[in-house]
Amino acid sequence: MTHRFNEALLRHPMLSIRGVHSRFMVISERLTMRVVDCILALGVCAFVTALPAVAETPGIAGAPYVPTPTAIVDRMLTLAKIGPNDYLIDLGSGDGRLVITAVAKYKARGGMGIEIDRDLVKHATDNAQKAGVGDRVKFLAGDLFGADIEQATVVTLYLLPSMMGDVEAKLRRELKPGTRVVSHDYPLPSWKPVDVVTFDTPDKVPITGTTRTMLLLYRVSDRR
Ligand SMILES: C[S@@+](CC[C@H](N)C(=O)[O-])C[C@H]1O[C@@H](n2cnc3c(N)ncnc32)[C@H](O)[C@@H]1O
Repeated sequence: MTHRFNEALLRHPMLSIRGVHSRFMVISERLTMRVVDCILALGVCAFVTALPAVAETPGIAGAPYVPTPTAIVDRMLTLAKIGPNDYLIDLGSGDGRLVITAVAKYKARGGMGIEIDRDLVKHATDNAQKAGVGDRVKFLAGDLFGADIEQATVVTLYLLPSMMGDVEAKLRRELKPGTRVVSHDYPLPSWKPVDVVTFDTPDKVPITGTTRTMLLLYRVSDRR
């Protein structure tokens, strides 16, 4: 009787080695699934939390850093007829070359660059110091779509075609009549340029695979 009871006990799924083992397996499988569920849930939360940050900073998915070759910087600034009365704003300013050249070489009274990449902002600020114009130019880290650009008399652009519609809307809303805008390679979708120049330079080959460059000059009209 005792023997049979013990045997029965040993066969009981809760107590037998096999039973304990399989129960342990079930519990551990459930635990593993819970841990996996938690990890997935945390991953989804992290992804959802990250979404607004990406959506608010289109530059991260926007134009990559490709500096305008020096010879084209000069062509852009002379096309805009930049001079001592001008304040130049470069939207997406990279290493600051357009703003710094406008002030150091063409004697613009001041300038500002807006750049989403903080390392480039630091680099541009250092370059301005080295060029001796650190007191007349500034470089701000941030999204160009949130920048205050009213004080510009000249705006320069070297951005992606996919950004130009939103850029045009911002320029239309914020710039004073008479402000000149020079865009490197890509047109504003519905503004009519007052001048377009095209030329060939070998400097462009590593960037676009062709020698061709197009510069478009716009002037903000009274009617917008
Ligand atoms: C093609 S590079 C031109 C740099 C400089 N303007 C030049 O011509 O040498 C475009 C620059 O715009 C910056 N950028 C892209 N999207 C931006 C945004 N939404 N706000 C601010 N900067 C942005 C990039 O980081 C990059 O440095």
